[in-house]
Amino acid sequence: MSASPLTVAIDGPSGSGKSSVSRALARDLGLAYLDTGAMYRALAWWALERELDLQDQALVAQAARDLPLRISTDPDEQALSVDDTDVTQEIRQTRISAQVSAVATNLDVRGELRRRQREIIEQERQRSGGIVVEGRDITTVVAPDAEHRILITASEEARLARRALEVHGSAGAEQLAATRDQVVRRDADDSTVSTFLEAADGVVALDTSDLTLEQVISAVHALVRGEAKTV
Ligand code: DC
Repeated sequence: MSASPLTVAIDGPSGSGKSSVSRALARDLGLAYLDTGAMYRALAWWALERELDLQDQALVAQAARDLPLRISTDPDEQALSVDDTDVTQEIRQTRISAQVSAVATNLDVRGELRRRQREIIEQERQRSGGIVVEGRDITTVVAPDAEHRILITASEEARLARRALEVHGSAGAEQLAATRDQVVRRDADDSTVSTFLEAADGVVALDTSDLTLEQVISAVHALVRGEAKTV
């Protein structure tokens, strides 16, 4: 645990590898970990469960305010529940990935989830000495004052290959085509409400297209230790 509280904010598009890197960093530094994308996914799951029309902005915003969400901040335990139902696995389903942008582009939803994210960050800075937070708008809106702000990027080709491997177990032509719509369309939709395709002022961009996960983790460690200003 570091002497003064530490927030490491990490943003990036789908398939950039930011989740694996963020979790590993939190574990290595003994910090808490927050996957903010999982919060948007949990809301999408709950709204679908209650058969809400995701296009009804006011209704979904109210659901965000009511969402009975519990999320673990332990990097070794990715548990998430809604109203005591464990949805850790369900929120990763393709049907959720395909519809979550409708929820995440609702500005009132973002206001509510950002408020909850800031609360968790503050609590973990006191309790755990700090937190690694990953998402799309963490470096710019949720925690612009974070001690470290990093944007993890990768070429579209690299991101598609990683996502295809993760979802389909291989990255042949067929799997790449199936993944393309999901990854490219979702990032296009999501980027209408957050700037995560380019680094904002003061945010360090790390292009991981040609790096292994281990290399990315060590590059991020170097940034956090202050040994590298750019990578
Ligand atoms: O990173 P992910 O695929 O689990 O994110 C799920 C959705 O939530 C995706 O559409 C992007 C969106 N999101 C967001 O808009 N802001 C965040 N801070 C995190 C995720």
